[in-house]
Amino acid sequence: MSNAHILRGQVLSFQGSPFATEAPQEAARLREAVAVQDGKITAVGSFDDLRQRFPAAALHDHGEKLILAGFVDAHVHYPQTAIIASWGKRLIDWLNSYTFPEEMRFGDRAYADEISARYLDLTAAHGTTTVCSYCTIHPESVDAFFTAAQARGQRVVAGKTCMDRNAPEGLQDTVQSAYDDSAALIARWHGVDRLDYAITPRFSPTSTPEQLEAIGALWAANPSCLMQTHLSEQTDEIAWVKDLFPDARDYLDTYEAFGLLGARGLYGHAIHLEPRERDRLREHGAALVHCPTSNTFIGSGLFDMAGLMAEGQRIGLATDTGGGSSFSMLRTMAAAYEIGQLRGTPLHAAQLLWLATQGSATALRFEDKIGNVVPGMEADLVVLDLASTPAIAQRAARADDIWEAAFATIMMGDDRAVSEVWIGGRQV
Ligand code: GUN
Ligand code: ZN
Repeated sequence: MSNAHILRGQVLSFQGSPFATEAPQEAARLREAVAVQDGKITAVGSFDDLRQRFPAAALHDHGEKLILAGFVDAHVHYPQTAIIASWGKRLIDWLNSYTFPEEMRFGDRAYADEISARYLDLTAAHGTTTVCSYCTIHPESVDAFFTAAQARGQRVVAGKTCMDRNAPEGLQDTVQSAYDDSAALIARWHGVDRLDYAITPRFSPTSTPEQLEAIGALWAANPSCLMQTHLSEQTDEIAWVKDLFPDARDYLDTYEAFGLLGARGLYGHAIHLEPRERDRLREHGAALVHCPTSNTFIGSGLFDMAGLMAEGQRIGLATDTGGGSSFSMLRTMAAAYEIGQLRGTPLHAAQLLWLATQGSATALRFEDKIGNVVPGMEADLVVLDLASTPAIAQRAARADDIWEAAFATIMMGDDRAVSEVWIGGRQV
């Protein structure tokens, strides 16, 4: 069987950032078809042209459906899959009550395998083709996740969570074991197939200064790795960081002082930032990751998307499963829109779709590989039905253009809107 395919529909790609223009939709292009072969996008254009150029390709005609890059979820905790939507706590109590007891179970490789498979099945069903995940302190949790993603041919980023204080007995590593275990996992997985390693100190409250220093040294020794952590999510957390690091100028300084601020750094949440922190993040070209369903669910605050974009920050979008209350990047875009509304800065559908694809890919430094429908990029695609339920269909029928139609699916859609998913040029 040939591995050349043509997908016909409304093919969405971006030729720039819809945040960099007065008319966001002008950053987007819609064409009739995309051709894929050997895992890559080979052409985008008119259907007649592609049909002529690739006569042997199998045709998948999606009519009016929207074909775009697979969603990229730039901050998740796959081990929290089974405790998603746990009621009533704010960050620190939520971690202690729900998260840490569940993460304790991932020293068991069989359990880690089971949840890795469940998580990747659920997210693929929601149109997500790449994720950047925290694992647990257990190296087994990383092996399980990379093994599952590798078998699916997926581009993913993951790393062993490091924490040597303020976590329960049995869920702590040490300065030395965090370094050694992470280094061994980098050697085993980083750059293998479509897998990349992220050095992963959970957040400064759960690492001693000595551990942060060791992790900083590990990153310096492995500069092609990403580094992911949490920053300024809740005000109580920030006060705690001030107590734990009395000499730090601010929360970011607890990372910066130990070599944990850089262009390949990913800072989840980044809600309550000081001017100095914003300046330093921008100067380094570090990435901020907005996790809107988490921020409303755990009650963290309202991310300043418009202000941060205007000052030139690099920003990705993420579910933060299971602090986030959904596996869906559609639901996540809807929550980002709602937070924008609460700040008086509504986001356009083109901006939301860009954030969930190219924006997150750019945060992960994969902008030349995934997140857009452009020849040469890896063929990770999602086909969205813009009339997937009666409620959405009746609204889409009244839409004046593709953006109005897509917006109804962003606000009201779920996995029923995801009619096909392609990973590495293969339909899943
Ligand atoms: N801060 C430190 N760990 C976590 C986590 O697991 N989830 C969220 N939302 N915030 C965190
Ligand atoms: Zn998180």
